[in-house]
Amino acid sequence: MKRNDDLMMPRPVRDSQSEMAEIVLPNDANPLGALLGGRLMHWIDMAGAMAAHRHSRNYVVTAAIDHLDFVTPAHVGDLVILRSSVNRVFHTSMEVGVKVFVENYLVDTCQHVSSAYLTFVAIDAGNRHLQIPAVVPETDEQRRRYEDAGRRRETRRLELERRRTLKR
Ligand SMILES: CC(C)(COP(=O)(O)OP(=O)(O)OC[C@H]1O[C@@H](n2cnc3c(N)ncnc32)[C@H](O)[C@@H]1OP(=O)(O)O)[C@@H](O)C(=O)NCCC(=O)NCCS
Repeated sequence: MKRNDDLMMPRPVRDSQSEMAEIVLPNDANPLGALLGGRLMHWIDMAGAMAAHRHSRNYVVTAAIDHLDFVTPAHVGDLVILRSSVNRVFHTSMEVGVKVFVENYLVDTCQHVSSAYLTFVAIDAGNRHLQIPAVVPETDEQRRRYEDAGRRRETRRLELERRRTLKR
């Protein structure tokens, strides 16, 4: 579905970059006090959606979350920081990258916990897919992410096709 011209003006990556912070509480952790993977996945989805909403200025649904590695554990009392950024817009979908860090404010350390790529699709209240305005990378890192996102989209497309063929 087409949207009016103002809403379709290209926007820089920085306009929708988002940050979310959570303190790990006992209810977020396993009996050994380590953050549950499922809880972190939920936070990643939320952080990704923030950037996607801000960029598209619309409702979005999560279409896919790529492979996820948990590099470093986070524990009860740690501060978890999630930074999200729209890497690239296609038509009605966009790739958002989320990078997660764990900060221990007692010993002043900050470590990389996980990174994820999510695909969000913009929709209206009637569930119709919407065109998303282009995103403009401005820094070398944003340009690299933009290029990489194009390659990842192709990989996702091939993987979807492969799974559909297997189902037949
Ligand atoms: C995601 C969803 C909107 C895709 O709808 P669809 O009609 O099957 O998709 P289409 O083939 O028309 O593709 C629409 C866009 O989504 C992208 N897309 C669809 N499935 C995808 C997947 N598995 N991975 C990545 N992108 C995907 C397409 O590439 C296309 O992007 P483009 O317009 O930028 O080229 C639909 O499957 C859906 O609503 N799923 C449930 C979402 C949900 O409940 N999420 C969790 C809660 S938020």
